[in-house]
Amino acid sequence: MAERKLLKRETYCGAVREEHVGRTLTVYGWVNNMRELGGLTFIDLRDREGLLQIVVNETFARPDQLKCIGKETVLAVSGRVVARAKPNSDLPSGRVELIASDIEILAASEVPPFVPENRGNVSEELRFRHRYIDLRNLGMQKNFKLRSKVNLRARNFLDKEGFLDIETPMLTNATPEGARDYLVPSRIYKGKMFALPQSPQQFKQLLMVAGFERYYQITRCFRDEDLRADRQPEFTQIDIEMSFAEHDELFSIIERLVREIFTLRGHDVTLPFRRMPYKEAMEKYGSDKPDLRIPYQIQDFTDESGTWNSDLLNAARAKGERIKGLVIPDAAGFSRKQLDEINETGKKLGGRGVIWMKKADDGFKSSLKVAPEAIAAFFEKRRIAPDSLVLLVADAEAQALLLAGKLREFLGKKFQDKNRMEFLWVTDFPLFFFNEEEKRLDSNHHPFTAPRPEDIPLLDSRPLAVMAIAYDLVLNGVEIGGGSKRIHDITLQKKVFQMLNLADREIEEKFGFFLTALKFGAPPHLGIALGFDRLLMLLTGEDSIREIIAFPKTTSSLCLLTGSPSVVSQRQLDELGIAIK
Ligand code: AMO
Repeated sequence: MAERKLLKRETYCGAVREEHVGRTLTVYGWVNNMRELGGLTFIDLRDREGLLQIVVNETFARPDQLKCIGKETVLAVSGRVVARAKPNSDLPSGRVELIASDIEILAASEVPPFVPENRGNVSEELRFRHRYIDLRNLGMQKNFKLRSKVNLRARNFLDKEGFLDIETPMLTNATPEGARDYLVPSRIYKGKMFALPQSPQQFKQLLMVAGFERYYQITRCFRDEDLRADRQPEFTQIDIEMSFAEHDELFSIIERLVREIFTLRGHDVTLPFRRMPYKEAMEKYGSDKPDLRIPYQIQDFTDESGTWNSDLLNAARAKGERIKGLVIPDAAGFSRKQLDEINETGKKLGGRGVIWMKKADDGFKSSLKVAPEAIAAFFEKRRIAPDSLVLLVADAEAQALLLAGKLREFLGKKFQDKNRMEFLWVTDFPLFFFNEEEKRLDSNHHPFTAPRPEDIPLLDSRPLAVMAIAYDLVLNGVEIGGGSKRIHDITLQKKVFQMLNLADREIEEKFGFFLTALKFGAPPHLGIALGFDRLLMLLTGEDSIREIIAFPKTTSSLCLLTGSPSVVSQRQLDELGIAIK
């Protein structure tokens, strides 16, 4: 087909307004909808900015053309803009319409498997197979416009603060961030592999050793881990590192960056953000990423439970277990069925069950055998409002807190207003945790995290008591960032590697280059990485990061659009020296 030169577009369909009335315009777009009414044909033409009503009336010279137009056909339409007799207040362009004088069909479309408007009623599988149609949805177009603006806003902000955008390699060695690596076989060095970076952690530290002082990169990271709504195997970080600063200065930069980003959606974020040590977060919320929108905290009722004369709880206490509880406002009216469901949920979440107590119309009741007077006294002493529901779990302290924390989130859904932004810095994480599977210490963040100087003497005697200068940024129960001060002393870094049970040879093989760099004037430095996709998910109010990634993977790590991962040819395998088992 001969290609014709396109007419100049003067404005987007979605941007035509009353000021254009009387003018002749050309617009381009996809047919969103088409209907006939009283001898007229109405076409809703859609481009990335929105919809415009096109009217084809009796003056149109080529009515035969209409037969070739269907949903998702691509058109160029020229005509005069007129005021609409009956404005449509649902559309920004709803006060005007365009009377077509010339229509050019730029691309036909087969009947699409679904229409963009209807994406909400279509399976994710079908949407992902035809992601280019899915993305035509105006809500999706809005998400990606915002994504682009946030990216630019972040760059401008960081540039002004003196950070340099420096790219780091994608073909590299394994970078330990707690997930599996994606490996890339080397053709030239058969049997050897590159790894895609789980983060640019070591490179950004080397950039500090190289004297750049302030680095940032909005970069892709790769982690082969189980996927969830807020996890993808490849995702984007706003990665930051700076020298000669303490965490207060970094927090202030990040808080101002986040405020700047959130103004793009009209949020007025209050600074500074709250801070809470990890220990307090676990005790009050049973989570290291508490959702502060939920108004109730976990309480300890171990002592009170001694007055309830309950064999079950007495036995639990005798074993050293703790009784943790939630007082849920306005929930005394839960039905038996709902309470049974909560109990079942508690079991599914890994507990033995959930005990409830409440004041009913005919007195205090509980799923536990406790005298009503004892419950009444407990409500009185703890000043529990009569319309509250008390839920209790008994378990070893850490278990009980985790379970109560999960229940708190599960039952707190109605408080999770997407327009409310509750930021929190969680600080003072333990440097190590005990990896039960491998029976060794493991890093809570990564092995480059610095211990608090005052805790260094405990490294040998009580390693699990050593606190790190590490911090996570949490928003509405989602971890949107994490970082730490780094070890810049070679002896301490070697010691931490050894504590992680790495043999000297392994340390040399994996981290030799890094340790060498620490010998040549490594400045004190610290940093953070923000999860760009998660930030966008919360900013747009989406429930999954798949909604703000143009071409995401499914939860089983497949790209349904391209069919990757895929089988490769025997020739390619031979070239790489690989045999598939
Ligand atoms: P961390 O592993 O905490 O830290 O990652 C930083 C942030 O990245 C986001 N994130 C993810 N987002 C989507 N999908 C995933 N699979 C995924 N994994 C992580 C989270 C997380 O808070 N190198 C360190 C940072 C540093 O110490 O400076 C790091 O990568 O929002």
